[in-house]
Amino acid sequence: MNKIGILALGRYLPSQVLTNSDLEKIVETSDDWITTRTGIKERRIADLNEKTSDLAIMAARDALRSSPVLAENIEAIIVATVTPDSAFPSVACLVQKAIGAEKAFAFDVSAACSGFLYALTTAKHFIASGMVKNALVIAADRFSTIIDWKDRNTCVLFGDGAGAAVLGPVSSGGILSDYMISDGSNAELMGVEPGNIRLPSDPKVASGNLPYVVMNGQDLFKKAVPGMADAVACAARKAGVSLDLISCVVPHQANDRIIASVAKRAGIDKEKFFVNIHKYGNISAASVVVALCEAVESGRIKKGDKVALVVFGAGLVAAANIVEWSY
Ligand code: ACO
Repeated sequence: MNKIGILALGRYLPSQVLTNSDLEKIVETSDDWITTRTGIKERRIADLNEKTSDLAIMAARDALRSSPVLAENIEAIIVATVTPDSAFPSVACLVQKAIGAEKAFAFDVSAACSGFLYALTTAKHFIASGMVKNALVIAADRFSTIIDWKDRNTCVLFGDGAGAAVLGPVSSGGILSDYMISDGSNAELMGVEPGNIRLPSDPKVASGNLPYVVMNGQDLFKKAVPGMADAVACAARKAGVSLDLISCVVPHQANDRIIASVAKRAGIDKEKFFVNIHKYGNISAASVVVALCEAVESGRIKKGDKVALVVFGAGLVAAANIVEWSY
């Protein structure tokens, strides 16, 4: 099989910052509780006119700036999101229009916080089969629209943002393995409850019967740790790469304590885990690709490095990829 890898990365985070101290004014919480229980210090919130497609388009444009493949030559666009602008058209079709990728087919995937790796692996196999030569994979979520801003159990955890990757053939390295697993028997642990009163973050906006996120945080925590540790181990085994050789792990950023427990359970030094949760909180599907983008930009990941990407989310859904960095 030809080697397929990531050719370029991009990201977009809305400029509006919501700090833990800002949240202290909205719900009964404290900077100390949020910091010690999650590692989060602040998160980004999209402004009222900024839809998920806008975040996705900005991230796509950022990735295309350094991509060897031009927008007009992109052949597939896959967007991972659970907060699309509307049920249809897909966010992917809106991105296609905005960037002028006229040759592409485009669709969305729904896999909550695991969405980016589900989309990445799907795109990789489209390319590997010869169906397309390249793909633009985007993850974008705007959780601020589905959060109950009176529920301290959830509103302190999430933020908005997007990340993007251009995939195509590489001469060395690339995506060495992929692993995806789902457990629908635990679907009730997290979901979006329809039709209940949700109060918006902005008091100027009228409240109504809007859907909002409900979550059993403790049970999810207990599932996330073995789920992510097993996913890394499976992906490494499939790649034939010993865990010792992995120089950087880029995990889904839901909770720094989950990341520490995954490191311990997997037997990988926590220092190898790239963490940016303090800046953005949990940005759902976008978490792992935004973190990957920042890890590469900061020089934490370099050409030839073996990297593990690992995610976990509502569904339940987990995934991991081992990647040998190509640029
Ligand atoms: N501020 C202050 N106190 C709070 C807050 C808050 N924001 N939230 C909860 N508390 C209180 C609770 O009411 C509880 O009080 P009590 O003991 O008097 O009842 C106490 O703090 C402890 O609550 P726990 O739920 O036990 O807190 P925990 O340490 O488990 O942390 C958390 C909660 C952060 C949600 C954690 O369980 C977690 O990160 N879970 C996993 C989340 C996750 O991975 N989600 C899946 C991915 S997301 C996706 O797929 C889109």
